[in-house]
Amino acid sequence: MNTVQLIATAVVLGLVQLASGQVVSTGTCQDYPVHVNFDVPRYLGLWYEIRRYEQAFQIGGECVTAEYSLNADGSVRVFNSMRPRDSATGTRQSDTGRAVVAFPDESPLEAKLNVTFDATAVDVTANYWVLGTDYDNFAVVWGCFGVGTTLRAESAWVLSRTPQLSAASEAQVQQFVDQFLDESNLRPTIQDAQFCCTNDPEVTAYPQCS
Ligand SMILES: *[C@@H]1O[C@H](CO)[C@@H](O)[C@H](O)[C@H]1NC(C)=O
Repeated sequence: MNTVQLIATAVVLGLVQLASGQVVSTGTCQDYPVHVNFDVPRYLGLWYEIRRYEQAFQIGGECVTAEYSLNADGSVRVFNSMRPRDSATGTRQSDTGRAVVAFPDESPLEAKLNVTFDATAVDVTANYWVLGTDYDNFAVVWGCFGVGTTLRAESAWVLSRTPQLSAASEAQVQQFVDQFLDESNLRPTIQDAQFCCTNDPEVTAYPQCS
């Protein structure tokens, strides 16, 4: 193999590995309708993850939060934090990414974002589509990318402004789940205050461990 072939093989293997933690199926990515008149400032702030499609980059993670804020250049800073499965002490693991509105000139503005994380060697950009949100309580987020020409890998997250969703918000979320997601692949995220407590004074999303 020459260098180019080696790199190509590594990229494809990496993609398959990345995809193996997501929901992989045959077909191209669906063109789902997303939330429109997207109000980025209202979407910023702290979100708790309630359910997700299991992800390679967060396998076993609990007490997951996502915090969105504005960067100086107008892009959105993405700060993901979780308690890894094997963390005995409540030590958390974080990742910072950057998101931009995918089609900023569209009117009405669609809730489609391109999110970039620094992976080990290459930047990984993923699409992040908000299927539904009321900004104050819940958000249902979905992403998809093609793997080769015949497969797709989907991600999904149910987010909440509080560690638990109210029954009313849960009912709204369920409509999006029923329409667009595969519920059997949605795993619940532990958000129990006792399990999720932390001794890191910088973490304000959870109470201090006693
Ligand atoms: C976001 O990604 C899409 C491809 O998925 C691309 O067409 C679009 O130009 C990107 N938007 C920005 C602002 O980079």
